[in-house]
Amino acid sequence: MQDWKKHYQQHQGIDDPVGYLVYNETILDHFKNPRHIGEIEKPDGMALVGDPRCGDHIRLYLTIEGDKIVDIRYKVFGCAAAIATTSILTELVINKNLDEALAITDDDIIKAAGGIPARKAHCSLLGVMGLHKALAEYFLKKEKGEL
Ligand code: FES
Repeated sequence: MQDWKKHYQQHQGIDDPVGYLVYNETILDHFKNPRHIGEIEKPDGMALVGDPRCGDHIRLYLTIEGDKIVDIRYKVFGCAAAIATTSILTELVINKNLDEALAITDDDIIKAAGGIPARKAHCSLLGVMGLHKALAEYFLKKEKGEL
């Protein structure tokens, strides 16, 4: 009798040492109950970023008061890991000053998540890219005197 699991792994390339799409409780919680989901009507910074390899994308909105991110919202068209890691990002970013927010990396998100299957690690980049691009838009608006 064929070992179906071994056969499937060999043919699908799912020999992920962390476990094939086995998400921990933190990831599952953020996927099922994403924090700060939504939009901001008049954001101080906004970004649309995507991953051309999978087609997933997020739209991220910021409200900034003084030097602090006081609100962050997002919408995701993407995988479970993108939804969960962007949700975790919002918890790391809210009420942080801009320098602290800019220092957050995808590794910080994965650490806060308590780990993520290796093949899904790249999904945590979407939120970070969105944050950086939205902050870049904020700085540009500020420089032009639009805020
Ligand atoms: Fe595209 Fe997760 S597979 S962001």
